Amino acid sequence: MKSTQLIIALTKGRILDEVLPLFEQANIVPAEDISKSRKLIFDTNLSNVKLLVIRGTDVPTYVEFGSADMGVVGKDLLLEHGDEGFYEPLDLKIAKCRLMTAGPVNAKPVQGRLKVATKFTNIAKKYFAEQGQQIDLIKLNGALELAPAMGLADSIVDIVDTGKTLEANGLEPKELIAHVSSRIIVNKASMKIKNSLISDVLQQLRDAVDNN
Ligand code: PRP
Repeated sequence: MKSTQLIIALTKGRILDEVLPLFEQANIVPAEDISKSRKLIFDTNLSNVKLLVIRGTDVPTYVEFGSADMGVVGKDLLLEHGDEGFYEPLDLKIAKCRLMTAGPVNAKPVQGRLKVATKFTNIAKKYFAEQGQQIDLIKLNGALELAPAMGLADSIVDIVDTGKTLEANGLEPKELIAHVSSRIIVNKASMKIKNSLISDVLQQLRDAVDNN
């Protein structure tokens, strides 16, 4: 990778609709319509900046290993992944939501070990350990809200935005684990080697966030 070239990994999906306008304000614009393409890497209006569009769970991995210099990813996925190998210099203050525990409405307290279904297994382990609550962890990859109704779990740990998905499935939010928003992460070696380029981009993004 040339030290004059910057690779930025973006999270695909809903979050991209909020990230791209912010990047445009920071003068980074994809050369083509990302939503209409099957490509995974995109040129931009800047000849030395390219964008990767990948799953959020993979963004910290790309940045940690330096295959991307920078990334945009939700705080939930950062908490789950751990923060080795990169800095987290900027909160983009978009795609805000909460990481919460949730369970059936008016559920009776569970005696003994709590069955917890989640895709955020590291976060759940840490959270319930801090609460002194013993749990059996059940890893699911989606549709977590179904698990309590089907008797698979007593509780879930998931992202809550409007709360409508919980409500539609007879669940209610219980405890707040963390507030979530999209963050910029930067590979530690890239920060040194490409400092002036990265500092410029960070400043442009910081200005865009302030004006948002
Ligand atoms: C998230 C989360 C909930 C839903 C919450 O899923 O897992 O299912 O959003 O939103 P609400 O509180 O506004 O109802 P998402 O659609 O991001 O897909 P995912 O299952 O891939 O996480």
